[in-house]
Amino acid sequence: MLSGLRPTGRVHLGNYFGAVRNWVRLQEKYRCLYFVADWHALTSDYADPSKIRQATFDAVADWIAAGLDPKRSTIFLQSEVKEHAELHLLLSMITPIPWLERVPSFKDQQQELKDRDLNTFGFLGYPLLQTADVIIYRAHFVPVGEDQASHLELSREIVRRFNNFYGNVFPEPQPLFTETPKVPGLDGRKMSKSYGNTIPLTASADEIRALVMTMFTDPNRIRRQDPGNPDICNLFQFHKLFSDDATIARVDRECRTAQIGCVDDKKLLAEIMVENLRQIRARREEIDRDPSIVWDALREGNRIARQHASETLELVRKAMKIDFPELR
Ligand code: TRP
Repeated sequence: MLSGLRPTGRVHLGNYFGAVRNWVRLQEKYRCLYFVADWHALTSDYADPSKIRQATFDAVADWIAAGLDPKRSTIFLQSEVKEHAELHLLLSMITPIPWLERVPSFKDQQQELKDRDLNTFGFLGYPLLQTADVIIYRAHFVPVGEDQASHLELSREIVRRFNNFYGNVFPEPQPLFTETPKVPGLDGRKMSKSYGNTIPLTASADEIRALVMTMFTDPNRIRRQDPGNPDICNLFQFHKLFSDDATIARVDRECRTAQIGCVDDKKLLAEIMVENLRQIRARREEIDRDPSIVWDALREGNRIARQHASETLELVRKAMKIDFPELR
């Protein structure tokens, strides 16, 4: 089983509940590979790559803090396993351009990120590089959110085309859909770096308190004595993620009857979150005191990933007749 994320900065609660928490659980059931897709970051941030390095470190540090175990899972960096690039190139030979153009994220992202030119070869190839990432490990499963489903569908089509031309080399990767809770941002929209409404997974206690104070609540509850409606309160969504059932029921009741005010409720939620995230935060602090935890995990992960990847590449070169053992 394989999954990856682009290095977009500190892991936030949306990334955590949407992917990373699930990754931690999957370690129990599968042989897992997890990687930082730093080449994928370049497809859209090519003009200013200055943040990729730090974001890569932060991603791996936060994954380990959240419970990914480098002894159990292979954690690696895409750009350190050059075979991904070779497979991407070889796959590009059999990939019809319209297949890439009709992947929804191609046009959607061009619309959304109007500040840069995404009419590039690299950006068009985003889902093909992603295909290489997956099939180079002959992975059977990829845990994906809805947003990545079309990328995986493309991967499956490419695998069929490849196997059809050159013989059975790759299994078709299956999506591993898992229930993930919806995580709103501070303003109630989806939590996302581009909206600037995130809470970092490893935020300090004071940072959590300050951010929770800025959260949107029921917009109709204007005065303290107005009854509130938790169903449309953003704060309440966070209680559902962090609080125990008894607390959720009590807040629900006391909000509707105006017994608890929004400010009190924010203070309550902030302390619950501080407590809940304490262990992850402590582990991240430990890693910051000793960054070699990250570099060592990656160095070892890269080595293992390279072994798997180079085995697959040998099969691929043979299958595509780009194979000259005499020259080795
Ligand atoms: N597209 C993924 C993201 O948005 C990153 C990614 C690259 C990926 N290659 C992958 C995810 C392979 C799963 C499998 O961050």
